[in-house]
Amino acid sequence: MFTGKVAVVTGGCRGIGAAITQCLAEAGAHVAAGYNRGAETAEALAAGLRAEGRSISLHQGNVAEPDSCARVVREVLDQQGRIDFLVNNAGINVDKTVRKMSVDDWHAVLRVNLSGAFYMIKAVLNHMTDRGSGRIVNISSVIGQSGNIGQANYAASKSGQFGFTKSLALEVARKGITVNCVAPGFIDTEMVASVPKAVLDTVIGRIPVGRLGQASEVARCVRFLLEDEAGYITGAVLAVNGGLEM
Ligand code: NAI
Repeated sequence: MFTGKVAVVTGGCRGIGAAITQCLAEAGAHVAAGYNRGAETAEALAAGLRAEGRSISLHQGNVAEPDSCARVVREVLDQQGRIDFLVNNAGINVDKTVRKMSVDDWHAVLRVNLSGAFYMIKAVLNHMTDRGSGRIVNISSVIGQSGNIGQANYAASKSGQFGFTKSLALEVARKGITVNCVAPGFIDTEMVASVPKAVLDTVIGRIPVGRLGQASEVARCVRFLLEDEAGYITGAVLAVNGGLEM
């Protein structure tokens, strides 16, 4: 499906990002998987995929730093010669009520989740427009749609992605580039494992399909948006949340 294509996946070595990396690599793409910390986890993922005959490279970097984003994109272009897909998946949360949230807590989350996507897009956009094709998917969150107590910074960063995605989608629609958001609900990853069990049980009780989502379910939606056949979908927010927010 994606033979000859090159995908950059930020935070692509664990959780949802690792599932996206695996899904795209299995579809035949070369995946340039970014990671910030956790070189061992990244190496283990890469070794497993290479053993299955998949094509993957690892790129350490910090999406909160524009120079680091530019360097990672240069690395991938030097090695692979092209970038077809960018998946902005890297994200963090620093959960506190607004009254307890420091200015640093606010900026730390905005810098990774929203500015990080901007820096990565800035770094690849000229390449994609020069080639007249490209696919960008930003991993947002149901929290960007609904808001959540203790997650004002996270919610702002994730709903900020909606406006950013739609504006960019308009700017590049005639250049052969689509830009979309995938907004997962509660997915069974380390990020959700840090939620206290009692809170999680309450959350699951509110999910219409009655369970957490799987990272692979998010990954398959990302893969769909990257396919040639999805070329008429741009500026969209694809919810993958078990019906939690409609
Ligand atoms: P995770 O914590 O397992 O993975 C986050 C990834 O982002 C890691 O690979 C980490 O290395 C990377 N990262 C963090 N800061 C970085 C930085 N400064 N530079 C480069 N990479 C950095 O989280 P998970 O659950 O896999 O989440 C992935 C994305 O999905 C995030 O954007 C998250 O907000 C979003 N999401 C997750 C949901 C969930 O239920 N797990 C629900 C909705 C959205």
